[in-house]
Amino acid sequence: MSFASPVKAALGRVAFITGGGQGIGRAIATRLARDGHDISIADIPGQKEKVQDVIKEIESYGRKAISVFADVRDAKSIYAAIEETVDRLGPNLFVSVANAGVTQVKPLLECTPEFIENEVRINVLGFMNTHIAAARQMVKQGHGGRILGAGSIASYRTAENLGPYGATKFAVRGFTEAAAKEWAQYGIRVNAYAPGIVDTPMWDHIDRELAKIEDISIGAAKAIRVQRDIKLGRIQEPEDVAKLVSFLVSDEGEYITGQTIKTCGGSSL
Ligand SMILES: NC(=O)c1ccc[n+]([C@@H]2O[C@H](COP(=O)([O-])OP(=O)(O)OC[C@H]3O[C@@H](n4cnc5c(N)ncnc54)[C@H](O)[C@@H]3O)[C@@H](O)[C@H]2O)c1
Repeated sequence: MSFASPVKAALGRVAFITGGGQGIGRAIATRLARDGHDISIADIPGQKEKVQDVIKEIESYGRKAISVFADVRDAKSIYAAIEETVDRLGPNLFVSVANAGVTQVKPLLECTPEFIENEVRINVLGFMNTHIAAARQMVKQGHGGRILGAGSIASYRTAENLGPYGATKFAVRGFTEAAAKEWAQYGIRVNAYAPGIVDTPMWDHIDRELAKIEDISIGAAKAIRVQRDIKLGRIQEPEDVAKLVSFLVSDEGEYITGQTIKTCGGSSL
């Protein structure tokens, strides 16, 4: 049992986050920086300006931050991003967050093979390869680590028009369990966060697509679901997710592994 200061424990430790340029990834990156970690943000080239903005914020907390562009559809680019992280920030990779994900909103009968493949390559293959690349580095270092992935309430119950997305998030749950079993021996805890309706560009996209399918106005799909489903009475902020990640990474979460933990204001009830 450990009662060490979470900030002190994090100092000198590096956290790697995919999709950290905006939304939940950004909130996790800035929160882990405030907790004392140095941060490596992996995102796609189109996010360059946003990533620079996150780096500026992190530096204002007195922590180091770097950008290592990676497209998680390409396993080689994930391994290169981890290698660059360690080269530039030191061989102290302690946290890896496979956060990058996409959602495409369509009835199943309209899903093309290309549409499904893209979602699987990012949400499943990108997620699994990020976990394995990070774990290899952590095992090499020999000091354990914390590995997190982006699940969803859709990891437990899928929705119409989000079929492939829900299937990819079920996969997150399965892989999280398997990795936790295999890597406990190395002092690596593996968990996933499972948010509900979070106010990010992703949900703006879902809202716009549902508006077309349901023939309602933009903003209505989100407003209806927030009011109907979220028991705590407000939309989830990315920082709500970052709080759970901060806890799981810290020693406070020392007895938790293999879990996909819902943080959704009761919307899954
Ligand atoms: N927003 C929600 O309500 C919600 C709910 C449950 C789960 N999630 C999950 O949380 C994660 C983050 O969601 P968000 O709402 O912040 O999404 P977002 O769309 O706002 O941000 C996603 C980030 O991932 C990056 N990304 C996309 N494709 C990439 C690729 N191929 N390689 C590297 N980076 C890539 C994007 O550039 C972006 O910075 C996702 O995995 C999502 O499925 C979101």
